[in-house]
Amino acid sequence: MIGAKSRRILITGGNTGLGLALAAKLARRHKLLLTGRKSEGEVAGTLPPGAGYLVADQSDPEASAATVLRGIRDFGWDTLDNAVLNAGTGFAAVNGIDSTQAIRASLDVNLLSALLQARALYPLLKKSGGTLTLIGSVAHKGSAAVPAYAASKAGLHGLARALRSEWKADVSVQVLHPGPAKTDMHEKAGYDPGFMRSLFLAPDDVAAMMASAIAARRSPVTLSWVKYLNGGAYTGRRL
Ligand SMILES: NC(=O)c1ccc[n+]([C@@H]2O[C@H](COP(=O)([O-])OP(=O)(O)OC[C@H]3O[C@@H](n4cnc5c(N)ncnc54)[C@H](OP(=O)(O)O)[C@@H]3O)[C@@H](O)[C@H]2O)c1
Repeated sequence: MIGAKSRRILITGGNTGLGLALAAKLARRHKLLLTGRKSEGEVAGTLPPGAGYLVADQSDPEASAATVLRGIRDFGWDTLDNAVLNAGTGFAAVNGIDSTQAIRASLDVNLLSALLQARALYPLLKKSGGTLTLIGSVAHKGSAAVPAYAASKAGLHGLARALRSEWKADVSVQVLHPGPAKTDMHEKAGYDPGFMRSLFLAPDDVAAMMASAIAARRSPVTLSWVKYLNGGAYTGRRL
């Protein structure tokens, strides 16, 4: 139930996959504004009740940051308690080499957009002593199948470390690194994990660990099988 302790939370890429699973969990207690690339018509009826939705295409990082900021104000919010910058894309490299287009798209959507959105949202987060949450990936340590994607996630890791120090008096900053999850991302990326997909975690379980880590404001946090098997998802479900 949304009550006095409810928070104003932005989730980019909140219309599907991990972002939507997280939104479904948080919608019970918090006010949500979700973003995505799809039109409002395309996502109608699929979002948690009461959640706002904003179209912001991150393939144009500067425009997306301005759109998100304007959308938050149009939604009637002048502060933000939590910005979860989760929207992301990836491309499977062919023979270990990404195309120029894949490199540009991975860095624009995953890294540059997050950087510009973080900068734009800082004053709103500062007003409420809020939290910036960057969604990275275990691939930030390097992944042969998706080099540009791995580079973008390593960039987010560095960004979180820098902002955590720069903003420590005003805003909490964290980066969460999920392990593989059963969303449509791999298919969209042209990557077939084969048998390994059966071992991937359900989006709902990863979202439970995300919710737990967001509430704890810890960073960096790896969200993968080890945490899951140790009860990480169950901790998240209780929050
Ligand atoms: N699934 C995994 O195994 C895994 C593992 C580690 C980290 N992650 C990270 O978790 C996050 C969510 O991934 P997911 O698995 O939920 O992927 P997903 O199901 O493919 O969802 C991706 C989300 O990002 C949005 N998005 C993609 N391109 C965009 C663009 N150009 N402009 C605006 N929004 C865009 C999508 O919006 P539209 O639907 O409107 O295009 C969608 O909401 C990503 O940052 C991903 O890197 C995922």
